[in-house]
Amino acid sequence: MWQPPERRKHALPIASAPSAAAAAAARWFQPIALGPRTARTRTWVPAMVPWRASDDGLVTPAVIDWYARFAAGRPGVIVVEATGIRDVPSGPLLRIGDDRFVPGLRDLVAAVRAASGGQTLLFIQLIDFLAIRRRPSREAYLGRYLAITPRHRAALAATGARASDAPEAAIRAALAALPDAALAEILDEREREDLAFGYRERVTDTHLPHIAALPAVLPGLFAAAAARAAAAGFDGVELHFAHAYTMASLLSARNTRDDGYGGDRAGRLRLPREVIAATRAAVPAATVVGCRMLGDEVIAGGTTADEAPALAVELARAGLDFVSVSKGGKFEDAKQPKVGAAAYPYTGRSGYECMPTIYSDARGPFARNLPLARAVRAAIHAAGLTTPVVGAGGIASFDHAEAALAAGDCDVVASARQTLADPDWFAKLERGDGATVRRCEFTNYCEALDQQHQPVTCKLWDRIDVGAPGVATTADGKRRLIAP
Ligand SMILES: Cc1cc2nc3c(=O)[nH]c(=O)nc-3n(C[C@H](O)[C@H](O)[C@H](O)COP(=O)(O)O)c2cc1C
Ligand code: SF4
Repeated sequence: MWQPPERRKHALPIASAPSAAAAAAARWFQPIALGPRTARTRTWVPAMVPWRASDDGLVTPAVIDWYARFAAGRPGVIVVEATGIRDVPSGPLLRIGDDRFVPGLRDLVAAVRAASGGQTLLFIQLIDFLAIRRRPSREAYLGRYLAITPRHRAALAATGARASDAPEAAIRAALAALPDAALAEILDEREREDLAFGYRERVTDTHLPHIAALPAVLPGLFAAAAARAAAAGFDGVELHFAHAYTMASLLSARNTRDDGYGGDRAGRLRLPREVIAATRAAVPAATVVGCRMLGDEVIAGGTTADEAPALAVELARAGLDFVSVSKGGKFEDAKQPKVGAAAYPYTGRSGYECMPTIYSDARGPFARNLPLARAVRAAIHAAGLTTPVVGAGGIASFDHAEAALAAGDCDVVASARQTLADPDWFAKLERGDGATVRRCEFTNYCEALDQQHQPVTCKLWDRIDVGAPGVATTADGKRRLIAP
């Protein structure tokens, strides 16, 4: 992962342990209305992909155990990991693109209800993403994947090669024989990227029929997925409008589509608004509909913290029950993958800003992204709305959460990695047992596993009592799957 050039290791901040009475009176443990439902507390476990679904995208016993473990800590809300809305193979990513996924999801809901004693609202994050391929070898790219066009022939001809009427195989061979620098002059920018990083679709690739058709298909896909979520018993859905995926790319300042779904702000908001309207219409009135969005894309030419609040206001106006604010996590600045691997959106600076580590700049990782939530919330309030805003990013203590709520940075405080480190930490704080919280060290061991699509675990607990009876482990038997 990218790290700030001035990287230095920060100390974990001192974390106070309130008494049970102080916790009961604390802002973080007060209820909050989220549209039609009320969360018991303002504690929130944001979406985290644990790579435990089956290869067909079905809920497995390991998925159920994972969420039941979080539910035992009785947070106000758990958001189930990014779940694919299309019925297409997506590896071990949870899916909801067909009715056959509903029974497993229903079991998941039941397990969370039981483990939380009905105290936790359960939402599911709905995601659409575009195709991305692994980085090809130079040989494979030039030998097979590159589409040979008259431009390539003309460029080769200009070097003196016989190219205008040569068979395609000869053109490929001639390109392959060129030194890298000469090849780079013949390939266009997109082809150079396809070679160096692997092919990746963009929302602006409107020459591709299925990309041009996104406005026609996405509202229906999100709506059908949300209806399935409601049928499975989820309390709500979180539309994934953040990070490296389709909807965030549509909202992005980099979206230059000229079909009415890009360009100016109204154009970029058009499809997200249509998705919200279709989703809302497809679920019962009691189902919460919110979104996760970016308060700053942290990429060149992307949406900045200056514009994001205005986008949030329009999304809230479109009928959301909450807006969850994240940061970065983009493909545009991802590190070059090795040949045979795919680019990963959390490896560049924008990825760092999404999940900042203990090795940071002077600002440090703790509560680092709250200014974005604060700006979004202020804009929503200035527009006369009261849509709750969820803040996240390096929140690792009761003090951080309380301070954020007291300052009006957000209405709900989400914690991903700290909750992975100790799924019981909310319950411990509530009963005055905060001194026993196992504290996240923010070194992103878990994130590295996510990057390799390996079952996500935490280094603080995944070797404890491995091999003891009843302890489920990874296939290699080395790591336990669930916190002790
Ligand atoms: C293993 C892992 C998987 C994640 N998966 C998702 C996801 O599916 N959807 C999402 O919006 N964010 C995802 N995130 C980002 C978190 O929700 C959260 O925004 C981020 O980790 C920063 O919060 P934290 O500092 O409390 O960990 C993931 C984070 C981790 C560590
Ligand atoms: S693996 Fe590291 S960063 Fe991840 S939850 Fe555990 S302590 Fe925190």
